[in-house]
Amino acid sequence: MANLETQYLGLTLKNPIVVSSSGLTNSLDKIKEIEKAGAGALVLKSIFEEQINHETADVQSESKQYAEAYDYLQNYVKANNVDKHLHLIKEAKKEVSIPIIASINCVSSGNWTDFAKQFETAGADALELNVFILPTSKHLNAAEQEEKYYKIVEEVIKTVTIPVSVKISYHFTNPIQVVDRLYALGAKGVVMFNRFYEPDIDIDKLEMTAGSVFSCAADLRHTLRWAAIVADEVKEVNISASTGVHDEKAAIKAILAGASTVQVCSVLYQKGIGEITKIVDGLEKWMNQRGFDSIKTIKGLMSMKSVSNPDAYYRSQFMKYFSNFE
Ligand SMILES: Cc1cc2nc3c(=O)[nH]c(=O)nc-3n(C[C@H](O)[C@H](O)[C@H](O)COP(=O)(O)O)c2cc1C
Repeated sequence: MANLETQYLGLTLKNPIVVSSSGLTNSLDKIKEIEKAGAGALVLKSIFEEQINHETADVQSESKQYAEAYDYLQNYVKANNVDKHLHLIKEAKKEVSIPIIASINCVSSGNWTDFAKQFETAGADALELNVFILPTSKHLNAAEQEEKYYKIVEEVIKTVTIPVSVKISYHFTNPIQVVDRLYALGAKGVVMFNRFYEPDIDIDKLEMTAGSVFSCAADLRHTLRWAAIVADEVKEVNISASTGVHDEKAAIKAILAGASTVQVCSVLYQKGIGEITKIVDGLEKWMNQRGFDSIKTIKGLMSMKSVSNPDAYYRSQFMKYFSNFE
């Protein structure tokens, strides 16, 4: 029988299937259900730096004439967000045995870095930093933009002793170098990749709308390419594959590419928490059928340098490879 145990961020997970940070992980009942369905770990719904700032700004506009009240309310808003979250971590640690990864969605290295320590004290097994800073200035070059990410990660890693992973986007000039630098700063893992709110336009109403919230199975391809390349180039970092994992086949592909864990979200919203069980069972069945006895034996088996045609991961020009496609 295949052993599905995997090492991720220095933690031993009973299998590589991790439920992504989202509304699926924001209550104790849901967390218990996720454990029951067989997930190896979960990432809690993020605390949003933006959310805290936004609430604080609301408070500010209502109480701007009363400086003392403003200070009090600002702290109150912060404390309540944090308290609710800390309570969930403590409860989850009491009630379930799978690792609980806390998550912070951040865009700057401000006051919130203090919060990170509190998550650790509450019992979080690791911390996932969801960092995405949309560049909106033509005066900011790529290196300056990336420095902001490094500063955040550096500050948090100074604050906590639990392992830290960074959830990144693929909107970097060179994702390999970014991951290498994050690892050098002390990040034990990277989640590749996050998915974002994308704007759309309603051409009848001439209004802004939102693109689809959920990923589709085809979105896995970005994840696969970069997992396979980064796994070889930054060997020590743990990769958690995210975006487009909708079934066990996708999970298997991501692990073969080099991921230590695989995160699932959209498919659970669309088809239910029971999909976790199907993915775990499907992975185990596939390993048994093929005679693979551990995750270690399949992890990275098809990374960029392990396949006979590594060029397959580098191909990017449609003109070159699909020129006869009509
Ligand atoms: C409704 C919803 C809420 C989400 N909330 C968060 C969040 O709080 N923090 C975060 O890091 N990612 C969040 N995400 C992104 C997911 O964690 C995940 O990275 C993304 O959906 C890609 O994975 P998927 O293809 O399995 O959906 C959210 C996604 C969805 C669909």
